[in-house]
Amino acid sequence: MAVESPYTDNDLNAFGLSRERIPRHIAIIMDGNGRWAQQRGLPRIEGHRRGVQSVRTVVEECARLNIDQLTLYCFSSENWKRPRLELELLMNLLQRYVVAEREEIMRQDIRFSTIGRTDRISSRILSEVNQTIEMSAQNPGMRLCLALDYGARDELVMAVRSICDRALKGELRPEDITEETVAKHLYTADMGDPDLLIRTAGEMRVSNFLLWQISYAELWVTETLWPDFRSEELFSALKGFASRDRRFGGLNQPSSPAGT
Ligand code: IPE
Ligand code: IPE
Ligand code: MG
Repeated sequence: MAVESPYTDNDLNAFGLSRERIPRHIAIIMDGNGRWAQQRGLPRIEGHRRGVQSVRTVVEECARLNIDQLTLYCFSSENWKRPRLELELLMNLLQRYVVAEREEIMRQDIRFSTIGRTDRISSRILSEVNQTIEMSAQNPGMRLCLALDYGARDELVMAVRSICDRALKGELRPEDITEETVAKHLYTADMGDPDLLIRTAGEMRVSNFLLWQISYAELWVTETLWPDFRSEELFSALKGFASRDRRFGGLNQPSSPAGT
């Protein structure tokens, strides 16, 4: 399959977008696979399978848009509560994805990575994941990060532990701990924060995803279920993002005398 060329400024204008209003980092809570399948009388795994197609489309579109980073919530630390069969099928699907997509990842110059715990994922899957990470480590294009066995609280606990450890060893004084110190101890230490957080399937919650990093992300929730989320939906989210007024606690108007 040939890689589609990157979108030009003219292409973006035709979509009603402009380059300077495209987010650098998009994070997505890919929800609704089970409901998609249930609505069709299919087993839940069919929804997950079909969801992989949406992943392919969104990855390719984001690469064409020259987005720096795409972070996809694939499996949360709470998802282990799912029935055993669903877990097994999900893990198989994940393994197949990281193997099957290698060619596309290389062709699209994507740098692949993951965030989350690694001690509960089977070594068979981890070795495939690591192979894809190593293989793509020098790629100059978009960074694609899968959140696997990821939980933001878990991540913060881990960060607090390692900061305490360093303090106890005398490497760090408590008064020198800054926001930057915390950020550097998270799984996302070498990434920027998401500018846009998309959640599919309508729930108005963040389900333990990137709690620290989304402090100032713009939120976009769509009723569309993840297996139905394709280019058109992505572009709607991007247009929504482009219309937001990001103030980061300040004011966007030209400065005026204090209090007026
Ligand atoms: C999201 O779809 C995928 C994972 C959490 C692994 P769900 O499986 O949560 O689908 P719904 O929310 O039950 O429809
Ligand atoms: C969030 O979806 C996790 C992923 C998309 C991987 P869930 O379906 O697990 O979230 P809740 O249970 O609706 O909060
Ligand atoms: Mg769900």
